[in-house]
Amino acid sequence: MTSSSSDHSDKQKSKQEDFIVTPWSVKGEVDYDELVDRFGTSRITQEILDKFAQLVGEVHPFLRRQVFYSHRDLDWILSRYEDGEKFFLYTGRGPSGGVHLGHLVPWIFTKYLQDKFDAELYFQITDDEKFLHGDVSSLALTEKLTYENILDIIAMGFDPKKTFIFTDMGYTKTIYSIAANIAKHVTFSTAKAVFGFENSTNVGMVFFPAIQATPCFLPSVLKGFNIPCLIPASVDQDPYWRGIAREIAPKLGFYKPAQIHGKLLPGLTQGGKMSSSQPDSAIFTTDSPKEVEKKVLSSFTGGRATVEEQRRLGGNANICPVYHYYYFLFENNDGEVARIYDDCTNGNLLCGDCKAMLASRVRKFAENHNEKREKARELVDDFIVEDIKGGLVKKRDLEEGRY
Ligand code: TYM
Repeated sequence: MTSSSSDHSDKQKSKQEDFIVTPWSVKGEVDYDELVDRFGTSRITQEILDKFAQLVGEVHPFLRRQVFYSHRDLDWILSRYEDGEKFFLYTGRGPSGGVHLGHLVPWIFTKYLQDKFDAELYFQITDDEKFLHGDVSSLALTEKLTYENILDIIAMGFDPKKTFIFTDMGYTKTIYSIAANIAKHVTFSTAKAVFGFENSTNVGMVFFPAIQATPCFLPSVLKGFNIPCLIPASVDQDPYWRGIAREIAPKLGFYKPAQIHGKLLPGLTQGGKMSSSQPDSAIFTTDSPKEVEKKVLSSFTGGRATVEEQRRLGGNANICPVYHYYYFLFENNDGEVARIYDDCTNGNLLCGDCKAMLASRVRKFAENHNEKREKARELVDDFIVEDIKGGLVKKRDLEEGRY
């Protein structure tokens, strides 16, 4: 190897080690541009944004701001839609604890997609995954967390007539045969290469990717014809689609599922994403208003050591979670976001004031979400599908004699 090619591979290697994004772990400062190359995805171009404007009118702030920034086959799915072929949405949650603000990012976007494209939504709760991976100590606890998480999902305002929520444990009869067909085509060596499994990994985890790939094809199987699938999710879930679902689809005669990838909301502590397994890093939907305020006010920031330095040198908004919370969720006006950025980096805005303003917005948001979450208790039967093979029957349908 020449010295320049070894320099190049050293650089590549150190970049690979700089940050890690897998479905179970996000570490370091994520370079999203680099991730596009690493995962082999495509950037969302102005042409695609124009297509959204043409097809549905409103371009969501997450698209304008590149919070959802990368994709696979999004252009293909939009052109099929334009030709009159509807797609369905598929997303999910692994109930490892409470739902936090980061989880809401893809769900807010999914709600926009459902409303604008009038799309069915299949929502998988991977209760098996979190038990097998060891995030949750018992299946009984997973069941409790699942119920609590479902309240947050329903609180997003999805259309009950077009939304089908299921847990892997509770929908086994319907999904297992599809998962078995997928699993038969995935070798252990592929699973190891895609997910980094080792000899010590339990065999439940080795099989699990087939379960998460299953909903990509579920509506096509249930309805008996091929339906395009669009997965809105943050980019950490990409290995399931890249390594499994898209590889297997043609072998089973299905369309490859399309994806639209979001960035990860950073945690309140320095580096990494907001994560259920690090409670200090996260604002949970069930945190009390006081806890929410306290967490925001004690967040890590990109500020300087003293007020004098901050005024003279300005803060570093790029590494500051507080700034990112405005950017992702808490300031709708693009001009205002730019003003916050400029005022911070020019030294005109001090961290204390910036955090205080954010704390009151997050507190209001959490109070509002909680009201909807409480109302969701009455709606669960309208969303969960019963494990009646071949059907998409809700408990409410059974109660009211519609099945
Ligand atoms: P889970 O429960 O880890 O995450 C649920 C969704 O939230 C996204 N996410 C985040 N988005 C922004 N900022 C963050 N800090 C953040 N943390 C998590 C995840 O990308 C995901 O979209 N195995 C999955 C459950 C699942 C699934 C799916 C997810 C099953 N099928 C299809 C997406 C699409 C899981 O444990 O997600």
